Amino acid sequence: MKPNTRPANPCFSSGPCAKRPGWTPEALRGALVGRSHRAKVGKQKLAEVVNRSRALLGLPKEYRLGIVPASDTGAVEMALWSLLGARPVDALAWESFGEGWVTDITKQLKLKDARVLQAPYGALPDLAKVDWDRDVVFTWNGTTSGARVPNGDWIKADRKGLAICDATSAVFAMDLPWDKLDVVTWSWQKVLGGEAAHGMLALSPRAVERLESYTPPWPLPKIFRMTSKGKFAEAIFQGDTINTPSMLAVEDAIDGLKWAESLGGFAALKARSERNLAAIARWVGRTPWIDFLVPDPAIRSSTSVCLKIVDEAFARLDEEAQRAQVKNLEALLDKEGVAYDIAGHRDAVPGLRIWCGATVETSDVEALLPWLEWGWAELRRSAAA
Ligand SMILES: Cc1ncc(COP(=O)(O)O)c(C=O)c1O
Repeated sequence: MKPNTRPANPCFSSGPCAKRPGWTPEALRGALVGRSHRAKVGKQKLAEVVNRSRALLGLPKEYRLGIVPASDTGAVEMALWSLLGARPVDALAWESFGEGWVTDITKQLKLKDARVLQAPYGALPDLAKVDWDRDVVFTWNGTTSGARVPNGDWIKADRKGLAICDATSAVFAMDLPWDKLDVVTWSWQKVLGGEAAHGMLALSPRAVERLESYTPPWPLPKIFRMTSKGKFAEAIFQGDTINTPSMLAVEDAIDGLKWAESLGGFAALKARSERNLAAIARWVGRTPWIDFLVPDPAIRSSTSVCLKIVDEAFARLDEEAQRAQVKNLEALLDKEGVAYDIAGHRDAVPGLRIWCGATVETSDVEALLPWLEWGWAELRRSAAA
């Protein structure tokens, strides 16, 4: 039987993620449309995003935070192209996005002294093997596998290299040890449910020092340049963006930050995400056909929750047929209007991925679960027919 209750918001995509509860386009009413982002009022809006983000996250005051082009990818690549090459590099990858940074480092930048520490979907590489005399590039939360690093204990306080961290699906939902991270990147469309296209780039004083003391041997497009005549371009980190941002997206980012403040700040955001994960964990515990893709709870993501189907008949199918089944389940629930975009990432092992970031209500996660049961039973029924 079809469940009686539907999620009030069926958006469970891992990016762009659900808008905050109660969001309507009315939230954009104050947007500075038609005005220059370089006008005093425009710069104030950009600085507001930076300052509210800093306060919410407890960013150390000596860290710089800027709005940069091209979403999280733009922020990461800006950092890689500008900073790497001064030291040997350790690049960590355990899913698709980390693999992407490995490709940048080994095939595009072609860094000779690069070590790649890899792990399959569901696991992490051995963090004890990381050499902190090197620069280290890693993802805090692997969005496509649902595996995150457990904490920052493995990062050396007295490291010589830079810790360069893609934190886009972690920030605002997971504790980040800021003093152990030299570069942290994220976008707006994840935990706070903002709009895509703009990246955030946080730099420690050591990262700034690297920018001023090292010039990479390759050309740097304007969009990546953070120095001018060898000096760090402070203005970029005070709301003076390199190129034109969307003032609509900026307004929306401010709306998300204000919403987060109204809940009580970072601790409340983290608690919402953890509660969502706990709701799924209770269901997984009592449901024989489903399990977490990540067996170890200590490294299990609370935002991009990835699930594998452990049903025997499903296990006997080849990968293509498994993917088709997952797509059918997704389409069935989409048609019912109860869940959108819940198939795992195309690079991951076939399964489900349910975004559980702070904008998702636990009541919606709880309402979704019986629909997953129903959808799965429907698929079994049609397979048996
Ligand atoms: C860990 C991680 N890195 C990078 C990206 C790419 O982000 P964007 O599309 O904002 O550039 C994503 C997107 O989901 C991600 O989850």
